[in-house]
Amino acid sequence: MEQPLSEKKSAGPLLPSPLVQHPKRTSALRSSLRILSVFLLCGYACMTLTAQLPLLVDDLLDKHESRCPQSDPLVPERNGALWKSLNATFGTESFKAQAVDWLGGAVRVPTESFDDMGPVGEDRRWEAFAPFHDYLLAAFPLVHSTLQLTKVNTYGLLYVWQGSDASLKPIVLAGHQDVVPVNPMTVYEWIHPPYSGHYDGRKIWGRGSLDDKSGLIGSLSSVESLLARGFAPTRTVVLAYGFDEEISGTEGAQNLAAALLGMYGKDGVAMIVDEGGGFAEEYGSVIATPGIAEKGYLDVKVEITTPGGHSSVPPKHTGIGMLSALLVEYEGHPYKAKLTRQDPLYSTFLCLGEHAKEVPKDLRATIRRSWSSKKALRQLQEEIFKNPVYKSFVGTTQAVDLIQGGVKANALPEKASAVVNHRIAVISSVEEVKAHDSELLKGLAERFNLTYNAFGTKVSKKAEGAPSSGSLTLSDAFGTALQPAPVTPTGKDAAPYQLLSGTIKASYNSHRGLTGTNEIIVSPGMPSGNTDTRYYWDLTRHIFRYNHHNAGKKTNRLSGVHTVNEAIEVDTFVEIIRFFTTLILNADEATTL
Ligand SMILES: *[C@@H]1O[C@H](CO)[C@@H](O)[C@H](O)[C@H]1NC(C)=O
Ligand SMILES: *[C@@H]1O[C@H](CO)[C@@H](O)[C@H](O)[C@H]1NC(C)=O
Repeated sequence: MEQPLSEKKSAGPLLPSPLVQHPKRTSALRSSLRILSVFLLCGYACMTLTAQLPLLVDDLLDKHESRCPQSDPLVPERNGALWKSLNATFGTESFKAQAVDWLGGAVRVPTESFDDMGPVGEDRRWEAFAPFHDYLLAAFPLVHSTLQLTKVNTYGLLYVWQGSDASLKPIVLAGHQDVVPVNPMTVYEWIHPPYSGHYDGRKIWGRGSLDDKSGLIGSLSSVESLLARGFAPTRTVVLAYGFDEEISGTEGAQNLAAALLGMYGKDGVAMIVDEGGGFAEEYGSVIATPGIAEKGYLDVKVEITTPGGHSSVPPKHTGIGMLSALLVEYEGHPYKAKLTRQDPLYSTFLCLGEHAKEVPKDLRATIRRSWSSKKALRQLQEEIFKNPVYKSFVGTTQAVDLIQGGVKANALPEKASAVVNHRIAVISSVEEVKAHDSELLKGLAERFNLTYNAFGTKVSKKAEGAPSSGSLTLSDAFGTALQPAPVTPTGKDAAPYQLLSGTIKASYNSHRGLTGTNEIIVSPGMPSGNTDTRYYWDLTRHIFRYNHHNAGKKTNRLSGVHTVNEAIEVDTFVEIIRFFTTLILNADEATTL
């Protein structure tokens, strides 16, 4: 996942779900009940109590109305025997050894992508992906003899496992081949060398062991295992693996998306499952949080141009001085984060409030009331925002990440610029952020006597050609603006979400020999970064960033992603294979996707 942080794949919570419709229909009933209760239970004498009653009645009614309905574990029926038999195989020591070989071998082929890479064909560093393809060919012989492989833009891998019923929309399992580079300065900090793929009896070590070779090799391992049992799909399964996800996917996923659109058309895919959220323990229960949205993105370049000159006769403010004031203005006015009921994170808390075992009583009550009370919603926000990671999931963020200006100690800087990185809230837009930033700097532009152009629009009131001390220009720094992703439907009638939920529960249970229906809670989730799916919106509304990764206890979140000592437990990896296998078989039987 693209996201330069260790918190990157943290609990990966949540999303807003249409599954939670406001209970308007019950409001009339509710009012009647309130009045009735007042008359029945009270009488005139206890009127003082009636203020409490509406709340009580609300609570009673709420108990019957789930805001986070859970689907049952879903296991294949038509291919039930095959699934059971594979389930048994996945639990054996010999399969574990096979899984270690598959993933360890993939880690041993470095596939780093660098921020400054040129196009395929020009930049020779891409050639590192050819040996990775050779590796896949050798490691997954059945996949390569059965599926149809197209190499898109040389290194993008598009495998099609043709189903017998062409009228069924395919499912797409996505992932990426590239890994973030290992910082040479930190190599000595690795317990086992970053490209060793070392297996210590419990964990497989190395760059990519989690992000995202566990997803890519996990899905390939599932297909290879299914092929070994002679399974032939009814519904087409597509595997789409980009090779520059960590640097925005313009060479890989962007071209894969075009190829897929050409093959299946707009909305021609049933569902897409890409890297993203996993499951973790929260409030005494285990909760899976498939990502159903993604924040948007905008890098704003703030540039000041001023007349140059010798610095022995300086103006009161140089371009650098003015730029500094603008940046201080930014930091003095951060975006306000506001939790709304449309927020994926809100849905996650609804699910926790309803299903998690150890949610404190007060918090549980606040969550329940937040559905209809603005005050409770604000209280909940206050509670949630105590965690800065959660706060950043909800609001638009800003960070001044680059700065440049001046060429010589005795010359006035003719240009000074900075780049402010924004991650845009799910309920906002690129346009809103542009408007916000333009407005923010207006006062200072005037004070400094600058002509002001923001995103191609003249902002300053200055008459054309009027004298000024220079100019201020805001622009999309790299042309990489990205709207927040469309929110994936999660309602009761959203078949893909229900299928995924049931699959998560079945995979979790079968891996542990459990049989309950709520051993794991499934909730809409909000991932903290962007994935290759940014290019896949036209293929389907049903996009999930989820790879069934066991993130364990809160204190033990995904270790080493984008930093030193990346490693995955082999048990976790085998469970990922179970998940993909169950997903493929369930999707194969689903008639309503
Ligand atoms: C699946 O296999 C595991 C062992 O790996 C076992 O505990 C579990 O009972 C099996 N589940 C089913 C449904 O067969
Ligand atoms: C703006 O700058 C120009 C050029 O230096 C100057 O002529 C003009 O008087 C300034 N206007 C104000 C309001 O400071």
